[in-house]
Amino acid sequence: MASEDTHRLGYQRVDDDPNAAVLLATMEGTAGWDATRRLRAWERDQLGLTLGERLLDVGCGLGEAALALAEDIGARGELVGIDASEQMLRVARTNARSARCRVRFTAGDACALDEPDDSFDVARSERTLQWLADPSGAVAEMVRVVRPQGRISLIDTDWSTFSIDVGDDALTALIRDTMRTERGPPSTVGRRLHHLVATAGCGSLARACATQTWTAWDPDESPAPVGCFSMESLIDDLVTLHGLTSADGQRFMSTIRGAALQGRFTMRLTMFAVVAAVP
Ligand SMILES: C[S@@+](CC[C@H](N)C(=O)[O-])C[C@H]1O[C@@H](n2cnc3c(N)ncnc32)[C@H](O)[C@@H]1O
Repeated sequence: MASEDTHRLGYQRVDDDPNAAVLLATMEGTAGWDATRRLRAWERDQLGLTLGERLLDVGCGLGEAALALAEDIGARGELVGIDASEQMLRVARTNARSARCRVRFTAGDACALDEPDDSFDVARSERTLQWLADPSGAVAEMVRVVRPQGRISLIDTDWSTFSIDVGDDALTALIRDTMRTERGPPSTVGRRLHHLVATAGCGSLARACATQTWTAWDPDESPAPVGCFSMESLIDDLVTLHGLTSADGQRFMSTIRGAALQGRFTMRLTMFAVVAAVP
């Protein structure tokens, strides 16, 4: 099986990943999720960016979410996007060609921002905290670089909400248990966003959540439902975590494939958002 077929979608070191092209394409897929679109529209309303403001996007990826927000800051405003991946930044710089404001997409570490104190009006970070060893350190950095009374916006996933319904209750329960186990990166950080901003000394202004629902997946067309990790990698995790045999894994995979081919596939994932004021 080709490596693209087993991708797990780790975003800690995109440029070292043999499947970097899949990681970038997946970002385009997740940008099209209905839940992503709803939360980004909500964020734009809540932030109410004004002409001339300076906006920072931490873990900006392909940059398209920040570029859409930057429409509100006009030609005198400035957008800075930082990301650990040069490959992401290259696409972001291309996407920025038609921006009206000044734009700088630059390499950096979310946990040690190379930006002066109090130098932005707003800092945002979307689906990046879940890949960091120290999400609260990254939020503290965002607070440091935003001026007093500026705003912080966070959007992130809670992978413990992930569920699949393919008409097999035992399999659904096993997958739910697997996703509840937090391994390595803080995969449930979405549900803690309001605690993170409170711990950093901010007042929470507004909170929201949105659930992405997939009702279709063509396993003959793609190893993964749009914007998701491959179903093979999910089954590998089930087998490893629960000490199952590979025959069990193959049986589960054929249950999921069969249900998807017969139009009986439903998958859900919830993302959370918070907008907060810097003291
Ligand atoms: C899942 S993507 C989200 C990208 C974008 N925010 C979006 O929502 O479309 C996570 C991003 O975080 C970046 N990233 C991971 N670790 C980072 C770090 N320590 N500092 C800065 N960026 C990081 C990755 O390179 C990737 O672009």
